[in-house]
Amino acid sequence: MSPDVLPHEKLDRAVIFLGPPGAGKGTQAKELAHKFSVPHLSTGDMLREHVAHGTSLGQQAQPIMASGGLVPDSIVLRMVADRIDRPDCSRGFVFDGFPRTVTQAQWLGELLKQHGFKQPVVVHFVIDKGLLLRRITGRRMCKVGGEIYNIYERPTRVPGRCDNDGGELEQRPDDREEIVGPRLEAYEKQTAPLAAYYRRLNRLHDVDAALSVDEVSSKVLEIVRNAH
Ligand code: AP5
Repeated sequence: MSPDVLPHEKLDRAVIFLGPPGAGKGTQAKELAHKFSVPHLSTGDMLREHVAHGTSLGQQAQPIMASGGLVPDSIVLRMVADRIDRPDCSRGFVFDGFPRTVTQAQWLGELLKQHGFKQPVVVHFVIDKGLLLRRITGRRMCKVGGEIYNIYERPTRVPGRCDNDGGELEQRPDDREEIVGPRLEAYEKQTAPLAAYYRRLNRLHDVDAALSVDEVSSKVLEIVRNAH
């Protein structure tokens, strides 16, 4: 089991988690961000917050997310730029679900340079498609703290209630079985090419995402600690 927090280790860079829906990016990103005491930047969570608050950005994003497509780059890039400008990002951050297109990746590369960060580490979650449906349709999230569970793989002690704060668990609207196909298609067409993009830049590290949560965590930690 890897340590909970690493008080004397600095991240000072962006870690990017790349992989298909349900591969375990969010689960690992939360944990890694906690270990290094840096922000976990999930563009999916940010967009869902806009949708929940009914902002104009949320109103534009909602129907696209509900159908399993990708929200336009222009919207996502503005949102990410605003977030990275906040002081808590000065010691690095963990991206989950961003970048998702080559345009987003090129833009991010420039932004990281401008902010003086080291080159990013890209962790690529490699997993057989057959496992994803069970992970996605079984996922439940705490309405209060956002903790991620799975009714098959990672059940709570009390059904329907978060182990940490007792919050009610909910299913994401796009986790319904009929939306999973379009989400995977969007991934294959628009996001999977990023693996080749980052491999060419020598930034990509493959991880077997079919392993247990703890095994994946140890491998991710090893990659991040040894990154140059
Ligand atoms: P987003 O929220 O980013 O969703 P996603 O990429 O589809 O990824 P998921 O959150 O579904 O999966 P995950 O890999 O995080 O898995 P998790 O750790 O939860 O995006 C949602 C939508 O927002 C997009 O469709 C798009 O419309 C829009 N969007 C977001 N970012 C965008 C961008 N940059 N550009 C354009 N549009 C954007 O795990 C899944 C389940 O498996 C959980 O139940 C978990 O408990 C379980 N699990 C995790 N790891 C393991 C393990 N090792 N073993 C067993 N079970 C495990």
